[in-house]
Amino acid sequence: MRGKDIVSAFDFERSDLFRLFELAEELRKEIDSKGTLDYARGKVMITAFFEPSTRTKISFQFAMTRLGGLVIDFIEEVSSLRKGETEEDTMRILDGYGPDVIIIRHSKPFFPHNVKDFVKAPIISGGDGTNEHPTQALLDVYTIWREFGRVDGLTVGIMGDLKYGRTIPSLSYMLTRFNDITIYYIAPKQLQVREEITKKIEGKLNYYLVENVEEVMEKLDVLYVTRLQKERFEDPQEYERLKGSYVITRNLLEKHRKIPIIMHPLPRVWEITTDVDALPQAKYFEQAQNGMYVRAALLKEVLGV
Ligand code: NCD
Repeated sequence: MRGKDIVSAFDFERSDLFRLFELAEELRKEIDSKGTLDYARGKVMITAFFEPSTRTKISFQFAMTRLGGLVIDFIEEVSSLRKGETEEDTMRILDGYGPDVIIIRHSKPFFPHNVKDFVKAPIISGGDGTNEHPTQALLDVYTIWREFGRVDGLTVGIMGDLKYGRTIPSLSYMLTRFNDITIYYIAPKQLQVREEITKKIEGKLNYYLVENVEEVMEKLDVLYVTRLQKERFEDPQEYERLKGSYVITRNLLEKHRKIPIIMHPLPRVWEITTDVDALPQAKYFEQAQNGMYVRAALLKEVLGV
């Protein structure tokens, strides 16, 4: 994957995924025992985030630092964007200094796809609007693989804001790389998954649209919950109306014979109550930690070090 741009979950082949997961396991051992390594000595990564982030940015920065590389952070709020410079010119300038890789997040769908055509450094998308978040899918599927020792044959419920959440398309696309997968998309009608997404997975896995999680709970190996994407709602009243239309509580889970593993890309707002955190099936904090190791594996591959 040396020098490759990563802007979609479809940029990963099945073989890439297994290689990255194995490499993440090796790096986990090395980092946990030695701290900072020196694979990426002298290499420079820029994080250019035009939208808020905690996990994605910091885990990429940690991953690069643990590989022994250097990190430059572009901060929009104090940049010349405030003087009217275009984002495209900003990207040209950042690229001109010769970074070895650039991580981009933007609220405009396809922003990373557009800039990759004139930026020389490899681009890794850290999320583009409602479109995709390919490295989130990487850590999601890595977490599933670690949990079950496989991904083939699993049944995954994806619940919440399936209309605006960008982690959902990427996770769905990445799951097409595995065999015999079933996805249940669980959401009220107004928030169901967009057709442009299901079109891309048609024939590659089984999927069903349902409204109520309780109908399918016992079929699920994984329940992946997402927050309502408040900032992407055009009508704030619509957000208020739908708020609380689905909440996972410990009570609700314990009503069932089988509790799936519970995942969430985070930030969690109110859609999983905090009493769920103590259940052994709650994997969301571990999932976030896994992000650092698998992003380190991805950086090592893209940098070719
Ligand atoms: C997600 C995102 O930014 O799309 N956050 C993340 O990177 N873990 C999910 C979200 O914001 O809901």
